[in-house]
Amino acid sequence: MATATALDVTALRADFPALARTTMSGTAVIYADAPSETQVPQSVVDAMGDYLVWHNSHIQGECAATRETDDKIGATRIDAGHLVDGDPDTVAFGQDITTLNFSVWRAIGRTRCPGDHIVVTCLDHDADVSSWLILAEDQGLQVCIVKVTPACAIADLAPHGGATAVVDAVACAPHRRIDVEALDCDVLLCSPYTCLGPHLGIAWVRPTLIPSPRPDRVRPAGMEPPRHRFETGSLTHEALAGPRAAVLRLGFAHYATCDGIDRCICALANIARVPS
Ligand SMILES: Cc1ncc(COP(=O)(O)O)c(C=O)c1O
Repeated sequence: MATATALDVTALRADFPALARTTMSGTAVIYADAPSETQVPQSVVDAMGDYLVWHNSHIQGECAATRETDDKIGATRIDAGHLVDGDPDTVAFGQDITTLNFSVWRAIGRTRCPGDHIVVTCLDHDADVSSWLILAEDQGLQVCIVKVTPACAIADLAPHGGATAVVDAVACAPHRRIDVEALDCDVLLCSPYTCLGPHLGIAWVRPTLIPSPRPDRVRPAGMEPPRHRFETGSLTHEALAGPRAAVLRLGFAHYATCDGIDRCICALANIARVPS
């Protein structure tokens, strides 16, 4: 059980530059974002700026900046693996969740036949519904919209019909520990932007999920391991430099193991320790 630490609100506010913003009439801005989008601390701003100034480059080359970029992407894959309690090799990055979703459904969709069914829930974000509706129209698939059901209950049913279970954990990530094995889904989507990081798409992809033989990708995205197939080409390297700083700010080693209200308390306690 995490213990709460008294918040030094002034110091905490100072660490989130966006909170210094005022309206045109000079009053403080209140951020009230229901989908859990967080503002970023200064360390995340600095990490992304540092990447652009000192390391900006392509990947898999021989120069220092290129090797540093490879290392940064590798470190972010490890952090993303921790976030979903999965192997870093099963993590794909994308520009944002919607773009990754399009990439996933295009790859999976090519393996579906007219008359096959897509089931979405009525509480899903539009990124998870409209993308599949476009696929359904293109491929002659049937769409069913069901009432909210626990993700694990849907994932339990999926294998019986040869279905693929895709879970959107974007809003869940700051509140609950994500365990992809316990959920037993095939793809899980989340984003560091709900955990002090920048906009970026993260997809955990079950290694046994066989995507389309013709994924939408070009070099330098590879074919192996399988998650590479959902990365269409060069990644947004400066955005990938942000999550590590967010992870450090959250005190991730401890935070990652917490669930429910403990997760929120732990995150608050950690971010309340404003770095000097
Ligand atoms: C639950 C949920 N899923 C998906 C998305 C789409 O994410 P993105 O803006 O990264 O495309 C959002 C955005 O608010 C969201 O709240």
